[in-house]
Amino acid sequence: MFDVKGKKILVTGASTGIGACTAELLASRGATVGLHYNRSSKEANDLLQRIYEFGGTAAILQADLLDASSHKSLVDAFICSFGGLDVLVNNAGGIHGFKHFLEMDDASWDDTFMINVKAPFFIAKEAFAFMKDNGGGKIINISSISAKYGGSSHSMHYGAAKAALDSLTKGMSRHGAEYNILVNSIRAGFVDTPFHKKINRQNIDERVRSIPLKKAGEPIDIARMVLFLASEAGDYVTGETFTVAGGD
Ligand SMILES: NC(=O)c1ccc[n+]([C@@H]2O[C@H](COP(=O)([O-])OP(=O)(O)OC[C@H]3O[C@@H](n4cnc5c(N)ncnc54)[C@H](OP(=O)(O)O)[C@@H]3O)[C@@H](O)[C@H]2O)c1
Repeated sequence: MFDVKGKKILVTGASTGIGACTAELLASRGATVGLHYNRSSKEANDLLQRIYEFGGTAAILQADLLDASSHKSLVDAFICSFGGLDVLVNNAGGIHGFKHFLEMDDASWDDTFMINVKAPFFIAKEAFAFMKDNGGGKIINISSISAKYGGSSHSMHYGAAKAALDSLTKGMSRHGAEYNILVNSIRAGFVDTPFHKKINRQNIDERVRSIPLKKAGEPIDIARMVLFLASEAGDYVTGETFTVAGGD
């Protein structure tokens, strides 16, 4: 039921955290995986080696998604390397300018929207165009529980960006259905990844205590939901937003 053998899957932001774990899980289940990264070259190469060691098939692709010209070329490079695209996992994301919203500046707002909305939209647009002419496919967007709560005082722009991503999920799914293109979002809760170190988040223990299950999520918790959606188990599911957040 959770078979993805032979599927060609592009995972953006596959160098660390949720994306790396997802890419490894999918490769271990027989998918051919494109490991996209931006700055974490060593981590991406280490992951590639681990996948080779268990006999998996993968390749790495570098692109800075803050650069709009990279969106189409990333999808083109994947399709050119692997001869197709069955599943896109729009995972790359993060917060630029983790500071009180009263101190928000244009650049932080723009970069946060670029990495969490514009880049996933334009990457999905390219994937959609290919899938439309090639029997369909799946697009899985990694969103955040922030979209539900509107983010914190320091991540309101990020919450808004992920909410926009969830809206795009719904919109694209409605237009994808006739082409057998299934589009879903996963709202991740607090997951233990480098994400929190990058924004220098304080009060981590307090945040974890606020989660009903009283523990941080692990990347594998999100990766398993991606596997579910990418596999046959998800073949009648589209336009949905799944929360994987320990009860948050
Ligand atoms: N961790 C959480 O608590 C949490 C909660 C909800 C949602 N999420 C979402 O889950 C997704 C994965 O986050 P994570 O927690 O795994 O964080 P992470 O470990 O920081 O991973 C972020 C990934 O995104 C890539 N990325 C960031 N900026 C990029 C850029 N400009 N161009 C290309 N790639 C870029 C990074 O690539 P390089 O390192 O190679 O530059 C990295 O692979 C994100 O969309 C995030 O918003 C996370």
